[in-house]
Amino acid sequence: MLAGKKILLAVCGSIAAYKTAFFVRLLVKEGAEVKVIMTESAKDFITPLTLATLSKNPVHSQYFDNTSGEWHNHVELGMWADLMLIAPLSANTLGKMANGICDNLLLATYLSAKCPVLVAPAMDLDMYQHPTTQENLNRLISYGNEVIEARDGELASGLSGQGRMAEPEELLEIVKKKLTNSAALKGKRVLITSGPTFEAIDPVRFIGNHSSGKMGSALTKAFQDAGAETIIISGPATYLPSSGEVIKVNSANEMLAHAEKYHSDADIVVFSAAVSDYRPENPATEKIKKKEDSLQINLVKNPDIAAELGKKKKHQFHVGFALETTNEEVNAQEKLKKKNFDLIVLNSLNDEGAGFQQDTNKVTFFDKNNNKHKFELKSKTAVAQDIVNQVIKNFE
Ligand code: PMT
Repeated sequence: MLAGKKILLAVCGSIAAYKTAFFVRLLVKEGAEVKVIMTESAKDFITPLTLATLSKNPVHSQYFDNTSGEWHNHVELGMWADLMLIAPLSANTLGKMANGICDNLLLATYLSAKCPVLVAPAMDLDMYQHPTTQENLNRLISYGNEVIEARDGELASGLSGQGRMAEPEELLEIVKKKLTNSAALKGKRVLITSGPTFEAIDPVRFIGNHSSGKMGSALTKAFQDAGAETIIISGPATYLPSSGEVIKVNSANEMLAHAEKYHSDADIVVFSAAVSDYRPENPATEKIKKKEDSLQINLVKNPDIAAELGKKKKHQFHVGFALETTNEEVNAQEKLKKKNFDLIVLNSLNDEGAGFQQDTNKVTFFDKNNNKHKFELKSKTAVAQDIVNQVIKNFE
């Protein structure tokens, strides 16, 4: 299944490094070509000889061979790979990656890699939970890397909790999925709405919401990884994707105008934006002065972008979101029909870790055939991947 695929495995200093021997063996058995980079401290946990023998390729650690002078080109290694997996990822290397530090071959290769980069952290539970570690992992996600979260279980320290590297068999499945999906949506154009909309009250104030753009950015990345071309129309969000076409707007009317322009050429449309349903009827042209004890602002209905484009839908596959606080499932199913979606992704603000600004989300899918699929709380990257997988099924 991985015949012809080139995988660059980068190993850091962690007790979980012993698992890479099994992992390399599994990759090679699947037909993959494997090259390994090790940090110096990784060699305290597993020998280069073991990984060189199993991968059938010399292991790289230094920029050049001290005795022969042979140069190990990090740019070539990064270009060679179809996928780079850093496993186990130590807190030390994570910190360096998040801050652009480049003091060894692994880091130089990471910085020059053009292929998807996945990381599988492994460390003690307190280290894993430390805000610095979590912030660094989020930084990697914002650079477009994929984090294979550490698993729960017994740790080398004797403690028990989240910190174990995913098992070799799990890593293999993730790599397979990633590589086989990489061309599944080749030639498809995906239009994504993302972020909040800001509806002006006056030149200073607006009606808005808490959407950060994290969900829309994760979706963009996941569709790109599946080979699709993406256009994201984003309200004023903190998070924007680092590649693909990005159109920035403020209001719902602007978002609709751009979405209408790109809709006919799109194959897939994902409505992840939190669009303001109302806007001030007559925004003031100058800052409203504080005079009276109360202030009335008349609001008028904004266009419903998803519903408008739902009326014009021909070949396009439409994915909507439903953000609910009560009667969640019934409301989501009503929106699926009313807005002519093919799939709706329900997230509820009653679920801890779900919704605005979170790095995680807990969703339930409903499709037009009344199929329901409930997912656990997971990273927005993983939720985006689930959505892409569902869309791919429709194009198979
Ligand atoms: O950006 P994050 O901080 O990561 O947060 C992600 C999110 C919570 C914003 C996202 O997961 C989400 O739920 N997005 C949809 C929010 C929303 O407005 O839901 P809704 O139930 O009000 O709308 C239903 C659907 O119609 C949505 O697809 C929405 O984009 C669309 N809609 C709604 C109103 C409107 N005027 N135009 C629309 O297109």
